[in-house]
Amino acid sequence: MGNMRYYHIGFGREDLGTNPPTLALLSGDPERARTIAETHLRDARLLSDHRGLNSYVGVLPNGAPILSATSGMGAPSLSIVVNELFQAGIRQIIRIGTTGSIQPHVLPGSVVISSAALCRQGAANDIAPVEYPAAADPFLTVALAQAARELGVAHHVGITASVDTFYEGQERSASSANPNLLRWLRGITEEYRRLNVLNYEMECGTLFKMAGVYGFAAACVCGVIAQRTAGESVVLEQKAIAVDNAIRVALRAAMARAG
Ligand code: URA
Repeated sequence: MGNMRYYHIGFGREDLGTNPPTLALLSGDPERARTIAETHLRDARLLSDHRGLNSYVGVLPNGAPILSATSGMGAPSLSIVVNELFQAGIRQIIRIGTTGSIQPHVLPGSVVISSAALCRQGAANDIAPVEYPAAADPFLTVALAQAARELGVAHHVGITASVDTFYEGQERSASSANPNLLRWLRGITEEYRRLNVLNYEMECGTLFKMAGVYGFAAACVCGVIAQRTAGESVVLEQKAIAVDNAIRVALRAAMARAG
């Protein structure tokens, strides 16, 4: 029988070589997946860039095999990629994303490591009941926090609001084309702030529920690029440092966990 290539990710188990990775770094942005592979991995090899969903296999500085892949934006795309990565043998996933802070002390440039998600995502409802916990793997999460501490990266561990939309769902109105923000979303950011939610992003809730249902370990580290207690826009001057911090934290944690 020939090599089975999964339809969306464009590669199969046999493309992963004789020492296949079981840990993946999963970025929303294909540029980030490529930068990780080309800048931080040894012997990086592009497996596929079908539909812009690129995936690279390579080797960490400690010799462990690893995958750097993109999930695309949002939970529906992530759910497809993660389903196929699991079928290809991946059993640990660290999402590397960007995020908007909703707490005044969580500053642009720092990273948020999600212990769990308030999951307000439609895709997750196709996978598990709405009440099903969206919890990060505790061991991968501790590895991320330890890595941040060792690297001296400012970090926060806590609950993330994982939602489907960047504009309406994160209560953006001044920067949005939609003049009609639904009533139930007006004031939601302040409500979450009071509930000690740290940040907004768009993928980890569904990732964590999939991890619980399928039986793999998942964690999430995001670079803070917007401060929603001060405004709606991305703080562009802090974006490069925030993303670089998230990548370095994830790579160090991966070295502790990949084998
Ligand atoms: N990603 C998000 O989902 N929200 C932000 O504000 C920034 C990045």
